[in-house]
Amino acid sequence: MSQDPAARQSSGHQSSEHPSPEHRTDGLLASLVAAEGARAKTATEFVEATLKKGILTGALPAGMALRQEELAREFGLSRMPIREALRQLEAQALIDFLPHKGAVVTEISLDDALDIFAIRRALETAAFALSIANLRPDDLSRAIETIAEIDAEADPARLGHLNRQFHMTLYACAGRPKLLALIEVQLASYDRYLRFHLSARGREHMAQDEHRAMVEAAAARDVATAVAILERHIDTAAEALKQFYAAREAISGGA
Ligand code: NI
Repeated sequence: MSQDPAARQSSGHQSSEHPSPEHRTDGLLASLVAAEGARAKTATEFVEATLKKGILTGALPAGMALRQEELAREFGLSRMPIREALRQLEAQALIDFLPHKGAVVTEISLDDALDIFAIRRALETAAFALSIANLRPDDLSRAIETIAEIDAEADPARLGHLNRQFHMTLYACAGRPKLLALIEVQLASYDRYLRFHLSARGREHMAQDEHRAMVEAAAARDVATAVAILERHIDTAAEALKQFYAAREAISGGA
């Protein structure tokens, strides 16, 4: 762990927040957490921020197991804030909970992501083009409502769901149930990349302008423009993920 509780104290937090090493007994920590519920939240944020940084920079490599007991010891905290921090990281697709292994750093493969982007680009543009002529005013207003919901949503786990809902609403009138089923599967597997991406780059990278432009073009029944925006939407996301990996490689390459 590159950052320890002592390092954090210099950033303005008070020393009592993290129990000192000589106090690391299970019974005492349990009672501390029970007594200090409000502090546990701050501790959670600290653990979350520290691990997030480690995962996004690659300091904590993909596939690495994050054992709760070990983390609790390293952070000098009880397991409760550790567990909660791990849950937050899972929502951001930064870790996965695997059977028998517990929490491990997510294996986000760029190749895998680019594969999904290529499939999405082919299938979604086809469905969108077929759907546009059949979209009714209430489909379009549902899409607009979903854009507003995305703007208002704070939970990263819900953002993936809302993005999927938005896209599926626009394709729903394609009259090709098997095509739509394939798209839904791809969007579901894209979910974790989206959450990872937003976690790495910030949620303003949701590309809501493109979402709005897609609805506008669909409302105008302008198939060529709508499809072009969707292609750009997917290509931009793929490019951003490529750049993220290139930047990370440049750092860890130690040039
Ligand atoms: Ni989208």
